Amino acid sequence: MDLSLEKTINNKLSKCFRSLGLNEKFAVVKPSDRPDLSDFQCNGALALAKAERKNPREIASVIAAELEKDPDFTKISVDGPGFLNLSLSDALISRVLCGMAEDSRLGCSTVDTPQKIILDSGGPNVAKSLHVGHLRSAVIGEAIRRIEKFVGNDIISDVHFGDYGTPMGMILSEIINQDGDLSKTETYDINQISDFYKRANSRCKENEAEKEKASRITADLQNGNPEYYKAWQHLRRVSVEAVKKNYDVLGAHFDLWLGESDAHQASLDVIKIAKEKGISEVDDGATIIRLGESNKPKPPVILLKSNGGIGYQVTDIATIKMRVDDLKADEIIYVVDKRQSLHFEQVFEAAEKLGLAPHTTLQHIGFGTVNGADGKPFKTRDGGVMNLEDLIALSKNKVRESMPDAKDLEGFPSVEAAQQYIDTLVEDIAIAAIKFQDLKNNIASGYVFEIDDFAKFEGKTGPYIQYDVARINSIMRKAEAAGIVPGEVIITNREERDLALKLAQLNSVIMRTHEEKEPSIISDYAYTLAQTFSSFYNTSSILNAETPAEASSRLRLAVLTRDILKLLLDLLGIKAPEVMLKR
Ligand code: ARG
Repeated sequence: MDLSLEKTINNKLSKCFRSLGLNEKFAVVKPSDRPDLSDFQCNGALALAKAERKNPREIASVIAAELEKDPDFTKISVDGPGFLNLSLSDALISRVLCGMAEDSRLGCSTVDTPQKIILDSGGPNVAKSLHVGHLRSAVIGEAIRRIEKFVGNDIISDVHFGDYGTPMGMILSEIINQDGDLSKTETYDINQISDFYKRANSRCKENEAEKEKASRITADLQNGNPEYYKAWQHLRRVSVEAVKKNYDVLGAHFDLWLGESDAHQASLDVIKIAKEKGISEVDDGATIIRLGESNKPKPPVILLKSNGGIGYQVTDIATIKMRVDDLKADEIIYVVDKRQSLHFEQVFEAAEKLGLAPHTTLQHIGFGTVNGADGKPFKTRDGGVMNLEDLIALSKNKVRESMPDAKDLEGFPSVEAAQQYIDTLVEDIAIAAIKFQDLKNNIASGYVFEIDDFAKFEGKTGPYIQYDVARINSIMRKAEAAGIVPGEVIITNREERDLALKLAQLNSVIMRTHEEKEPSIISDYAYTLAQTFSSFYNTSSILNAETPAEASSRLRLAVLTRDILKLLLDLLGIKAPEVMLKR
């Protein structure tokens, strides 16, 4: 059965190349750059000609002549320096769509060799509530987790809690400053704990001695001081609870809630290995690993501070060791702010020197910042840090403006029930708006938070796609009531054909997103698919189609669009409500 259009054409091309004695490596097509002229194009003749020092147009013509024999190609032309332009028969497109419709995975393939991937994409810290900076890590990470799982990889997400660095000593020191000792620590809730941290932060910024003290307390904590450890356990527990709530609202799932503290023993092991292998040296009381400086100067990695403390770098190196030894990771992917690029370059190089992960791919996917209209990191109106909770509240308020009044809603048993539906809907749409805005942008580039537009029902937004799904749901209900059932795809006009071709791109879009680890490829596709559907629906009525077969075909296209949009939203971590409401 033909399930993927691009694959089907590639197979045909491969067969043709083989029969002509040409290198099959070049037998690949892509959607045409000129959809007005052809459906797909193959630039293989150019590469072949270069490799074999032949005339590209001649090679392309030989291929074209061979392909002419296949009735699935309705038009083949050689253009420019040797581009092969291919137009497909409606029968082929229809066959592929029927295959997709019958398949539970909508014709999507899985990877040949499933990999064990560890995804490091949370990075929250003790005592700090999540802010807009944590948004991208959680949202992009969740999308990557879902996409990798869908293509068949075994992916495990680990939140990598920031729970053992200097901020711990800073908070403990601040509590002691204020209370005299740590006896009251266990009565403090998350707000009090973050206040301690804020105060500690400004105190340490102003005063070098305070900073030293905090660093010493951190080292003592790491080295097992029981009083510090007991207090720290409370700080960590309360912080994890708070952060979990935030991630739940955002729909970000973590399989593992490990943190820097869990890498303590492994950090000591790493330091030992480095010493034994003669890779580390002592510099000014600290144990360090010097790194290569071939392209740019790279500061050394600090394994052990002069006060005996363990820092951010060594915990990350040790965590690699644990993920390789205990979890058998084939790949480790970090979704972390791109301003930490140097840190990851250092960590990866040190891990390589130490021979910790010889067969594991280490990849840092660095994202850009979420900015305000002024181009600076997004802040609250009064200039404060934008907490994730504030951001979600802001989005909900925007969405609520476009909701009808509960008492005006029909079809609910009571006003309360209607209100409940609205409330859930508001939350689903508000989160969709935030997530889609984040995921429609290329990961590496930052973006400006579109405060006026991100939650609108039109334009390139999450709510627009959600709305389209609900609209098709309603179309389907009406068609069903009229006794129409989805049937074979028959193409009768331009809009149907455009939509059919667009739908058939699904598999290659998802595979490309997986290969490039770039969810914006999916968001772009979802948006253009929704638009293509609108043009189709404007010209091609289902209820008033000329023949029953035409109505069934159009309904099939609508159902496929709905199923694909739902799948795409799901892969992005966005809910697709059955029914949407609008004022
Ligand atoms: N907690 C860190 C921070 O706030 C981010 C952690 C990212 N992950 C990692 N393995 N280093 O900067």
